[in-house]
Amino acid sequence: MSKEKEYTNGEITVVWKADACVHSGNCVRGLPKAFKPNDSPWIHMDGASTEELKAQVDKCPSGALSCYMNDASDSRGKEETPVPKSCKLELVNNGPLIIYGPIEITGKHGVELKSGPKTFLCRCGASSKKPYCDGAHKKFDFEG
Ligand code: FES
Repeated sequence: MSKEKEYTNGEITVVWKADACVHSGNCVRGLPKAFKPNDSPWIHMDGASTEELKAQVDKCPSGALSCYMNDASDSRGKEETPVPKSCKLELVNNGPLIIYGPIEITGKHGVELKSGPKTFLCRCGASSKKPYCDGAHKKFDFEG
C-alpha cells in the first residue's frame, strides 16, 4: 500500500508519496522554510507562498511531491494533467533516463509500480530502488 499524505494551506494541497521519494533533497535545499525533514509534519504549508510551493514541487525529480489547487474545477480539485501526445525522454549524462509525462510501470505480477509526471529510471544498475534511480550512480562515477 502506498504511503500518501496531503498538506494544504487552503489554497494549494501538496501531496507526498513516501514510497516514490528518492531523497534527492531538492525540496529541502530549494525551499528550506517549507520542507523541514526533521520536523513532523515535515512540510510547513505556512512557510512559503502558494507560488513558491508549486514551483518547488514541480522540481521534484521523482514525482513523489505533487500538488493541486484546491479551487480547481474537478471533483477533488486536482489540476487536470494534460495527456501528452508523445512522451519526452532525456538521457542525463552519467545519470538516469528521465521520462516526462504521466506513465505507468507495471511489474511482472501486474502491479502498478509508479505513475507520475516525471520518472527517473536507473541506467547504471546500482540503484537499490530499481527500476528507479536513487542517486547511486554518483557514488561510483557512472559513465554513460
Ligand atoms: S542511474 Fe541513478 S542510480 Fe543508477
